[in-house]
Amino acid sequence: MNPLAGQLNENIKAGNQHVYEMLSGLGRAIYFPKEGILSQSAEATAHAKKYNATIGIATEKGVPMHLDVIQKKLSAFSPKDLYGYAPPAGKPELRTVWREKMLRENPSLEGKSFGNPVVTNALTHGLSIVADLFAEAGDAVIYPDKNWENYELTFGIRRLAEIVNYPLFTDEMKFNSKGLLEALLSQKDRGKAIVVLNFPNNPTGYTPGLKEGEEIVEAIKTAAEAGINVVAVCDDAYFGLFFEDSLKESLFGRLANIHPRVLAVKVDGATKEEFVWGFRVGFITYASEDKELLAALEQKTLGIIRATISSGAHPSQTFVLEALKSPEFADQKEEKFQIMKGRANKVKALLDSGKYGDDVWTYYPFNSGYFMCLKLHTVAAEELRLHLIHNYGLGTIALGETDLRIAFSCIEEEQLEDLFDMVYAGIRDLEKK
Ligand SMILES: Cc1ncc(COP(=O)(O)O)c(C=O)c1O
Repeated sequence: MNPLAGQLNENIKAGNQHVYEMLSGLGRAIYFPKEGILSQSAEATAHAKKYNATIGIATEKGVPMHLDVIQKKLSAFSPKDLYGYAPPAGKPELRTVWREKMLRENPSLEGKSFGNPVVTNALTHGLSIVADLFAEAGDAVIYPDKNWENYELTFGIRRLAEIVNYPLFTDEMKFNSKGLLEALLSQKDRGKAIVVLNFPNNPTGYTPGLKEGEEIVEAIKTAAEAGINVVAVCDDAYFGLFFEDSLKESLFGRLANIHPRVLAVKVDGATKEEFVWGFRVGFITYASEDKELLAALEQKTLGIIRATISSGAHPSQTFVLEALKSPEFADQKEEKFQIMKGRANKVKALLDSGKYGDDVWTYYPFNSGYFMCLKLHTVAAEELRLHLIHNYGLGTIALGETDLRIAFSCIEEEQLEDLFDMVYAGIRDLEKK
């Protein structure tokens, strides 16, 4: 064991023995080199006032060397905010601004102790850091049967974790916190579980209500009281797009420090929230009462970042930071929110209008996010998907035998009726076959 990793482990143990127990083998072994190139370079930046011959970039006239063909197109930004490496943890100001945003939008975080967000290469990378640090072969990763398919690769294939699914909905079409609790308690012998909570949910577009949210927190607390160490990960990819009377905060705020055996982790980012999918800017944030433990987890996170991507893209971080600081940001975001809400409401109005026969489909509850999901009663989802593509020029996503995901996020409100008419017609075509 590298002495730095050993020291981080000691700090984590001293802060909370259970969090140490949650770490994977890799999580225990990883560390961020203190005396390596990056820290020597940082020291030189602070103190070497004559020449700084440390950094692995090229400079000219005091700024990063750059090509005019690029700078001409990006002239609104200074070369120093584009070309050099961003720190492995991300631009410090971006981290601060994101933390402030998190507090503003999640009042339940008020007074809670949690770390500074570390910048990731968007949410996929944040989830993969969680997998690296906490998932050991055979550990259970618990999430509902309706989920983002990439969890399978991130946790299952890459880290050999065992995926444990539970039905997302009860018969009454509410969040199935009993199913979550049972899945958790099934890990009593192992004494550890990773839970992924994703609201607004991909693919259904569901976010639980206040009471359901409390039940989720209660289920996790009950598991912790039963002696299970729980890494509770909030995948808040679609955060903020809450169109109805659901929870409007991340459960991270409620889960933060509820029990010594619960480590709450928030994975979020600008990807979907600020409509910058290809920029690849996300964050990972841990909650703990213990500052030393938070610092150690941050160092381990930086170790994973250094070992995989070294640091995130600098221009994207600058773009997102400038947007977040802009006085026009809030108004522009509200405008887009209203467009998305308008589409969600339109879909619901169409489906509830009686225009389509009730026999062909029902829809899973949706109140948020980018998507909704139809449950097909008379035809197979994959067969319908292919039929719609080839005969109507309409692309949808088939999930399992019965579910068809429709991203209303990318269809104009006035085109939604045409879209659902096509899906309905497609079903009728196949029924006649
Ligand atoms: C639930 C969920 N989490 C995470 C992601 C990944 O987001 P990113 O593009 O920021 O990596 C997605 C993207 O589709 C998603 O639907």
